[in-house]
Amino acid sequence: MLHPRHVDVHLADPALADDRQTGWLPLLDPAERARYERYKVEGARQEYLTGRALVRTTLSRYADVDPADWRFEANRYGRPSIAADQAHLAPDLVFNLSHTRGLVALAVGQDCDLGVDVEWIDRDNELARLCDRYFAPSEAAHVRAGEGAERTERFFAFWTLKEAYIKARGMGLALPLDGFAYDITGDAPIIAFKSSCPDDPARWRFLRRTMGPSHRLALAISSRQGGMRLWFGRVVPLGDDAPVEETVLPLDGGQRAP
Ligand SMILES: CC(C)(COP(=O)(O)OP(=O)(O)OC[C@H]1O[C@@H](n2cnc3c(N)ncnc32)[C@H](O)[C@@H]1OP(=O)(O)O)[C@@H](O)C(=O)NCCC(=O)NCCS
Repeated sequence: MLHPRHVDVHLADPALADDRQTGWLPLLDPAERARYERYKVEGARQEYLTGRALVRTTLSRYADVDPADWRFEANRYGRPSIAADQAHLAPDLVFNLSHTRGLVALAVGQDCDLGVDVEWIDRDNELARLCDRYFAPSEAAHVRAGEGAERTERFFAFWTLKEAYIKARGMGLALPLDGFAYDITGDAPIIAFKSSCPDDPARWRFLRRTMGPSHRLALAISSRQGGMRLWFGRVVPLGDDAPVEETVLPLDGGQRAP
């Protein structure tokens, strides 16, 4: 069972999906299998399969359920969670998944709101156009004020943080992306909400992490607990039980309201 102050982030490489396919595919239920078959682009298929394998094998680390036996249900915005009839097997366990080219991340917590986003940053993004479309004006201005690599870093900082928050709320793009704005100039990101997206800044904590040269990750956590402990581990679903690489980080206090 996971400690209520702990959030574990399991990371997997979708490039392994090919070699491990025979081990992972049988874990999927018929609906997941059908969705897997529908992916035409190989990279997207691998990311999806890796995500399913990672969710199923990881949840089985915290509860006595075989990976293939988990059942899931989605809220009206598409957020998956453990099916109600299995909830007693893993009380209050929450998870959120994100996949991008070359990386799949699964955050697992206990009795909290939790969102994770990973993005692959080596792409031609037309950053300025995307900023104007998706970000709050202050965020777009901060991105535009950066040059070159710094501009890219700022862009993906906002992008991952915004995705992490809307995923933690479980509402995805039903929340207006310009209804809240981050300030990323300090040590920890600070969020401010507008009337179109009412929420309490003091209940949120955020973390940004660089995951190698090509990936950026953000976490959004709202928990009643005090100082949190975050664990990051690279794992291989159905592989050796030991994580390939692990890091432990503290995450103190709630944020100050701006
Ligand atoms: C679906 C959405 C929640 C995340 O999409 P995404 O960032 O493209 O994809 P990610 O890989 O990070 O997350 C997908 C996973 O989130 C989970 N998810 C789906 N709906 C969710 C929701 N409402 N809340 C939380 N998690 C959700 C699922 O597990 C999904 O993976 P799966 O379908 O393989 O199970 C939504 O935010 C979206 O469509 N975003 C589009 C991206 C965009 O335009 N961003 C604007 C720039 S800020």
